[in-house]
Amino acid sequence: MSGLFITMEGTDGAGKSTQLNLLNDYLKNKGFNVVFVREPGGTKISEKIRDIILDIDNQEMHYMTETLLYASSRAQLVNQVILPELKKGSVILCDRFVDSSIVYQGIARNIGIDIVKKINNIATGGLIPDITFFLDLSPEKAIERKKEQKELDRLESEKMYFYKSVYNGYQKLIEQDSERIKVIDATQSIQKIHQNIIDNLEKMFF
Ligand SMILES: Nc1ncnc2c1ncn2[C@@H]1O[C@H](COP(=O)(O)OP(=O)(O)O)[C@@H](O)[C@H]1O
Ligand SMILES: [Mg+2]
Repeated sequence: MSGLFITMEGTDGAGKSTQLNLLNDYLKNKGFNVVFVREPGGTKISEKIRDIILDIDNQEMHYMTETLLYASSRAQLVNQVILPELKKGSVILCDRFVDSSIVYQGIARNIGIDIVKKINNIATGGLIPDITFFLDLSPEKAIERKKEQKELDRLESEKMYFYKSVYNGYQKLIEQDSERIKVIDATQSIQKIHQNIIDNLEKMFF
């Protein structure tokens, strides 16, 4: 076996971390060697880059800088963790990946889809997830959920229109890659969503 690369996508507050934690436990109980990483981050160097990206003081950060920092963090994660672990047969759970950059930097920040794809292609060596779950939650509901949590970081404190363009960006990606990206109704209960995700995985891989 050559491992399995699973990514979770969706707007902030959609439930990605919640579902990845459940999936991590589920797969470990099944006996898989699971490696759970988040983006940006997942390695010592990538976590340092994450701090720069999310620092609320870095308001003057240019969108191209942001795009390249995400790609740098990802290059380190792919080469230091994801590729070696896939080779060993591990299941990789990744909280956000290239799709997030295409949507956030490419579409919402207007850097351009093709440029962001090119940059990330170089950063990842063209690595594509085996399956991606998109947790589908309207921007309105996502913000409501986020408000219940205390502190917002630099990206989360952006305006509503940004959330909307992110959401529309994801819809575009899904249209183009409906085979890889599975859309999950994120307004369901946490357990129901978890079951949907497992059903998809069992149908396709186990
Ligand atoms: N299916 C759900 N229904 C209601 N609330 C949820 C659901 N999934 C997650 N939440 C809550 O919404 C908030 C955001 O969830 P989180 O997993 O942190 O989202 P993300 O990682 O996508 O930003 C948390 O307070 C979490 O407990
Ligand atoms: Mg999260």
